[in-house]
Amino acid sequence: MIVRKAKMDDAVGIYAVEKETFSVPWSIESIFRELANEELTRYYVLEDETKSIVGYAGLWRVTDEGQITNIALCKCCRRNGYGELLLRVLMEAAWEDGCNDIFLEVRISNMPALHLYRKLGYTVLSVRKNYYSKPLEDAYVMNCRKENYRRIIR
Ligand SMILES: CC(C)(COP(=O)(O)OP(=O)(O)OC[C@H]1O[C@@H](n2cnc3c(N)ncnc32)[C@H](O)[C@@H]1OP(=O)(O)O)[C@@H](O)C(=O)NCCC(=O)NCCS
Repeated sequence: MIVRKAKMDDAVGIYAVEKETFSVPWSIESIFRELANEELTRYYVLEDETKSIVGYAGLWRVTDEGQITNIALCKCCRRNGYGELLLRVLMEAAWEDGCNDIFLEVRISNMPALHLYRKLGYTVLSVRKNYYSKPLEDAYVMNCRKENYRRIIR
């Protein structure tokens, strides 16, 4: 498995991971738009030995703040440390790009993601009521400051 920067050609592979993972997946058009917007976005993919895309993660950078847009792995690849690896690579790139803070939203029932985010230094800032659909659910808004990440991850 390798983690590398995403290319436009990866849109179809990212879309397959989206469809497998989420009840309301992004459209292929929105994935193309995200990958094309290189000024604002950073996307990384997890690629297996057959060169298939089995995971991806992305972020927007606005001045010194990052906003994680998504992270997802195919079901077959979870619980092997790759989600954490992908998120660490994305966060290191964001710090390198000048971010001092990274924000994200997560379903309040999504225990695997919540555990991962807490492990890497994220804390809950607030709750967004009814943020998600299918099923309707609140989101936690979480953030991680660069100093906090550096204290935890050495
Ligand atoms: C969230 C997700 C990316 C985690 O990826 P992963 O490769 O399975 O996670 P890892 O194996 O790297 O685990 C890293 C940490 O995450 C947490 N974690 C991951 N899966 C977990 C689970 N099923 N239960 C509890 N904690 C879990 C643990 O803290 C773990 O650290 P540990 O191994 O030291 O206990 C993956 O579960 C996924 O793709 N989920 C569906 C999409 C999704 O919910 N994305 C988040 C949207 S906000």
